[in-house]
Amino acid sequence: MSEILKVESLTHTYSEGTPFEKKAVDNISFSVSEGEFIGLIGHTGSGKSTLIQHLNGLLKPTSGKIFVGGEDIHSSKENTRAARFAVGLVFQYPEYQLFEETVRADIAFGPKNMGLDKEEIDRRVLEAAEAVGLSKEQLDKSPFELSGGQKRRAALAGVLAMEPQILVLDEPMAGLDPEGRKAIMGYVKEYHKKYGTTVIFVTHSMEDAAQSAQRLIVMSGGRILMQGSPEQVFERAEELRASGLDTPQITDLFTELKRRGLDVPTSVYTVEQAAEYLRKLKGGIA
Ligand SMILES: Nc1ncnc2c1ncn2[C@@H]1O[C@H](COP(=O)(O)OP(=O)(O)O)[C@@H](O)[C@H]1O
Ligand SMILES: [Mg+2]
Repeated sequence: MSEILKVESLTHTYSEGTPFEKKAVDNISFSVSEGEFIGLIGHTGSGKSTLIQHLNGLLKPTSGKIFVGGEDIHSSKENTRAARFAVGLVFQYPEYQLFEETVRADIAFGPKNMGLDKEEIDRRVLEAAEAVGLSKEQLDKSPFELSGGQKRRAALAGVLAMEPQILVLDEPMAGLDPEGRKAIMGYVKEYHKKYGTTVIFVTHSMEDAAQSAQRLIVMSGGRILMQGSPEQVFERAEELRASGLDTPQITDLFTELKRRGLDVPTSVYTVEQAAEYLRKLKGGIA
């Protein structure tokens, strides 16, 4: 698979040279292949938001480079502008940025800025609204008439309507009730499956990451603590807990079973895997 994103020795220091100096991202390197679904995990303050704001040029590296589609995004004005559209960033609590009179106008805001014609904008608005489960009637409402979960989905649709090559979501489920969380997760997963867009899903919840990502990048103190498949990462549950991260409950259960002497893998991270494993075990015994 071809490489769509490369982060090379990225460091970001806030307020350099002042008493408030803070190195939020510390010499991070990784790359992402086209179509991958990455979970970027780390406890609060580990540098996740700082890192991802570099991917579309919103923050400038103190040192290091970002390549999108092989181009250094700070090597020219054109490349910086291209990165802004190629990398769609959904901020934490994005509904605070809804401000138009109708949901339709809000979703159309990004595509309009891209200079697309009306017909193309309309097509994109409808497609993006559908991708997040908003009806045509809801498009003509004021964003303020929507529920919290619907507002969040409208804000997400605004980024999807720009049809980014890389979709970056910063804690997209934060502050929602379980139903709202499930809905967002479901729509994002479905979107990835349908369009094959590269997704970087930022969360401090291992449980959420386990449910969606093909590959996990774990941050701690501005650095990458580990990266790999969910199995590889959850196998190191002890280290994760030591860095302040909660492992999925099912992983904890299997770790405890192993501690009590059962021969079970500790890399299990979804209830489905656990059920499958136990069924096999039972089959083996019977
Ligand atoms: N604008 C800022 N100015 C100074 N320090 C900041 C700023 N934004 C974040 N930080 C600090 O940088 C570190 C990383 O923060 P952040 O990237 O928001 O982490 P995360 O998204 O993982 O919670 C934290 O110590 C935070 O306090
Ligand atoms: Mg953050």
